[in-house]
Amino acid sequence: MKISLKELKEIYKPKLVPLNWDNERNVLVLLDQSALPFEKMFVETRTPEEVADAIRQMKIRGAPAIGIAGAYGMVTALLNSSTLEEALSSLSRAKATLDRARPTAVNLSWATSRMLNVARNAVENGLVKNVRELVDLMKAEAKKIYDEEYEAELQMGLYGLEKVNDGDTILTQCNAGGLATGTGLGTALAPVKIAHALGMKVSVIAPETRPWLQGSRLTVYELMAEGIPVTLIADTAVGLVMYKGMVNSVMVGADRILADGHVFNKIGTFKEAVIAHELGIPFYVLAPTSTFDLKNSVENVVIEERDPNEVRTVRGVPIAPEGAKVYNPVFDVTPPKYVTAIITEKGIIYPPFDKNVRKVVEKKMSSFLAFRHFH
Ligand code: MRU
Repeated sequence: MKISLKELKEIYKPKLVPLNWDNERNVLVLLDQSALPFEKMFVETRTPEEVADAIRQMKIRGAPAIGIAGAYGMVTALLNSSTLEEALSSLSRAKATLDRARPTAVNLSWATSRMLNVARNAVENGLVKNVRELVDLMKAEAKKIYDEEYEAELQMGLYGLEKVNDGDTILTQCNAGGLATGTGLGTALAPVKIAHALGMKVSVIAPETRPWLQGSRLTVYELMAEGIPVTLIADTAVGLVMYKGMVNSVMVGADRILADGHVFNKIGTFKEAVIAHELGIPFYVLAPTSTFDLKNSVENVVIEERDPNEVRTVRGVPIAPEGAKVYNPVFDVTPPKYVTAIITEKGIIYPPFDKNVRKVVEKKMSSFLAFRHFH
């Protein structure tokens, strides 16, 4: 069977889009993911500080989604400027504020850098005459980042589909669906959603993903909303489900991927990768090329540590003695030897990653990607 991107866009329609830019009011409206699935609340953010707070408090979370939110956060930085000079310095301050909100996902600083560069280039080369024109240009750029992200997910979903067979069960980690990317589709969940939309029988096993429970609260909610069979497991059951042959492949997202193939993703990913490797189960990482960091090495990437109370409690209910000492790193790093392939919108990257990552990430998109075959 052969499917084009255009056909796919007709077949698959996202159901749960967590982020919306209100162009009339210049407000970024976010579905509050800290309240899901118990309450469906929306928060409105109007300044870079408000966007940064929403990112820090994980009302919006997931690498691509915080990148898009960061891009719109940059737009809000311009709204009170009266001169282009003022606008540029406000953008630099906004970038610093937004980038500090969460350190590990590279998409955030990637998006704010792209927005700042577009603005500087427009001002320096006289492409805009006043702040109003700059605001319009920046809104268009943020929208472009969003649209490119959605296209990338469709493309990587089609590539990922080549790794999915009818009847497969896929183990994931955290939430790498549309809630995490802002578009409603997702990265790691894109092949499953597309397979399901095409009538294939596929299902997902979602570990709860302590301490913040993105698996139980978000992945299960998102997949149930689309009618895709999903089974929730405790994080501690990951080894057994793989050992019992219940998993055909592992598909996870990423917050940052280095040029040598080291993958930073939600805590618990490394454990899945090692067990999958040991048991001969394919371990795939799905991410847009905006998640790649070709400059840093594994020693100098900051792994975010969050509030110890996330571990001492479950949604406010204590589960440990008061004052228990806690270590709460929220991402881990998977060495390249455990990764079967990295699936991007530009193609599937196989080992040796230190040679192949650059080749794929730096290549220009071309039209041959418009059609993908699958069985
Ligand atoms: O802490 P979170 O919820 O922002 O972590 C999210 C993840 O680890 C995702 O797997 C990653 O951002 C990829 S999202 C498509």
